Order: sequence, then structure tokens, then C-alpha cells
Amino acid sequence: MRRIIIALFCLTSAATTASAQKYEQLAQTPPMGWNSWNRFGCNVSEKLVREMADAMVASGMRDAGYRYVNVDDCWHGARDSLGFIQPDPTRFPNGMKALADSLHARGLKLGLYSDAGWRTCGGKPGSRGYEFQDALQYARWGVDYLKYDWCNADSLKASGAYMTMRDALAKAGRPIVLSICEWGDNLPWTWARPVGHLWRTTGDITNCWDCEQNHGSWSSWGVLRILDKQKGLRQYAGPGHWNDPDMLEVGNGMAPDEDRAHFAMWAMLAAPLIAGNDLRTMSPATRALLANRDVIAVDQDSLGVQGFAYQTTMDGLEIWFKPLAGGDWAMAVLNRASAPRPVTFDFAREYVSDDLSKRSADFGTVTYHVRDLWTGRDVGTTAKPLAATVGGHDVAIYRLRKA
Ligand code: GLA
Repeated sequence: MRRIIIALFCLTSAATTASAQKYEQLAQTPPMGWNSWNRFGCNVSEKLVREMADAMVASGMRDAGYRYVNVDDCWHGARDSLGFIQPDPTRFPNGMKALADSLHARGLKLGLYSDAGWRTCGGKPGSRGYEFQDALQYARWGVDYLKYDWCNADSLKASGAYMTMRDALAKAGRPIVLSICEWGDNLPWTWARPVGHLWRTTGDITNCWDCEQNHGSWSSWGVLRILDKQKGLRQYAGPGHWNDPDMLEVGNGMAPDEDRAHFAMWAMLAAPLIAGNDLRTMSPATRALLANRDVIAVDQDSLGVQGFAYQTTMDGLEIWFKPLAGGDWAMAVLNRASAPRPVTFDFAREYVSDDLSKRSADFGTVTYHVRDLWTGRDVGTTAKPLAATVGGHDVAIYRLRKA
């Protein structure tokens, strides 16, 4: 009897003291999907989301791996008399459960947005003080992904605020990806691994190559600016816990070369691939880029190791490598400048070694096949120097496979 009492005591105390866990099996590769913010801002509706889901299927993007359809800020209506958040009834007349059901029926998933503060960045009701109730509501609706922002958080401590939402999601009982969006201000890579599945590393992206857009109290950043802010972070990423350099601007107005450089470098970073353009009206070139399975495979590689700059030159050329599962490597040549550049890379003289993944490629002794991931064609082996011209603001990207 005494033993039973002691066992019961241990069980109850474990139940009350153990903190909740994040759902571990989610986002084993970087999440892929679409999000409304970059192109539509606050102008979201059920109609828009359903049309985007249709386009995601019809364009082949779903079958290429894009699954999350994420409604960003401004879907919210008011809280009901019990405090449960409701969608804006005019914008989402059939409610979120019906929307989630119809996405699930098509092999897609629903993402929603909230904020750790009392109001979202767009001024809608935030989750502060309602975390467990909001998580319960999302779970009831069948939500699969929560982007959780950081506006109006006053003096909240970031790690604590995000842990509260993690615990709330765990209690609600539905596996929901937690996307931490506090812009890197509180170094989430140092504390967020047991908390969320991805964390923003920077402020917002904007659709330019190398600019800063100053909005007064904050700035948004072009592709190169965001890329450069990823330095030193690769050791924090891996399956189930990713650095998030923000959503894609592909198809939102940059030049085609810039779009593909952006996409390729995000793949080299093992970044979440969350499209942010209008999938209903995108050009065939944009569609082909977003659905490029070879580049997607670099991003989604099961090893889950973020790539790194191997060589950088003063004139803006960067050679990147990313170790892949099964002994392959991805290699990218980024031309930051606006003029095209001839590039020669004599593999036989190079020894690429990565302390993080404990992987190395001694091209002097081991030969690899080289496949150009834009054309899908083999272009020779590493036994000969690679010679290519990389356009201005463009990337050449290859997959190396042991011969
Ligand atoms: C912040 C986030 C953006 C977007 C907006 C919505 O700026 O960083 O990605 O979610 O809020 O208001």
C-alpha cells in the first residue's frame, strides 16, 4: 500500500512540475507552403485562401511539396462572450473549421497567425492572456501551423511568452507547427529549439535585391541584406528546428535572375520555403522556379544541414556548399554584382570540409558528377574545372554526386 501511495505521489508531482514539450515530429524538413502577407497584407479572405489553394494544386506546387496555406495578420474578428477568438465574419463567412476541412480534403494544411502581445502588428486581438483559449480554438478548427508574432509585447520576456504558447498548443492536443516571429531581436536560436519549429532570424523581407526600407521604428530588408544576417547561425538549425530568414518574395516584382538567386540561396540555407506571391496569376517562369524539384530537394534534404559560404571574393562572388544526405553536396555560385561574371572553379585544388556536419569533399582524390539544377543536365565531373558565366544578381546551382 505504502508503495502505491509513493508511486501515486511521484506521478502527480511529475504531472504538475513537468513543462510541456513541443511536438517533436513536426517540420523534420523546412516547412513549405504559401502565406498571404508579402503580397496581400491585411487584405485576406476565405475566397482568397480557397483560390490560392486551388492554384497551389493546379500549378503542381502541392505535389512539389508545398502544403501549408497560411493566413497571416488580419483574419481576426472579435472574441465571443466567452473569450474565444472568432474570424472576421465578412471575410471568412464559413468560418475556419470549414476552411481547414476543405484544405485537408485536398492534401493541404491550414496555418493561422497570432501575436504574443495584446494586439497583432495589424491591430487585431493578440493572444496575450488568452494563450490557452486561442490554442484550444485553433485545435478545434483543425489548424496545423501557427505563426506567432511579437508586436505590442510590452515588457514580456520573449522566451517565456513563446513557451507559454508552446505549452498551450501542447495542452490543446493537436500537433501544430509553432513558427516564432520575433525578428531575431532576442536571439531565439539560443533558446527556441525546445520551444518552436522555426524562428525568424531578422526583420521583414521586402522585394528588392539589396536595399533597406526604413519605416521609422523598423526596417525591412532586401534579399542580400537578409542573407548576410544569417552568418553564424547555421549550427542552430536542424530537423524540427530551423532558422527562418523570412518568406519568399519570388514573383513579387524582382527581376527573374534575382528571384531565382533568392530561391536558390534560401534552399542553400535550408530555409522554410513559404511562397508569398499571387499563385493565381504567376508567370510560367515563376511557377517553374517555385516548383523546381531539384532545388527543392536541396532545401528539403533529410540531413538538414544549412549551407555555408566557402569562398567569397571582393568583387561579390560567393561559392557556397551544403552537405546532403547520402554523400552528395549542393554547390551554389552567387554573383552579388549587377554585371555577369565568368567563373572558373578548379575542383582538383579544393578540399571542402565542414566541422558542423563532419563531412568533407576532397575533390583532388574523389570525383563527383556535376548536375546543373537550372537545366537539370549533367555538365561533367569535378575532374575538370567548372567554367561558367553567372549573370548579374544571379546564382548557378549544382548537385555533386560521387562518380
Ligand atoms: C510582422 C511580421 C510579418 C507579418 C506582419 C503582419 O511585421 O514580421 O511577417 O506577419 O507582422 O502584421
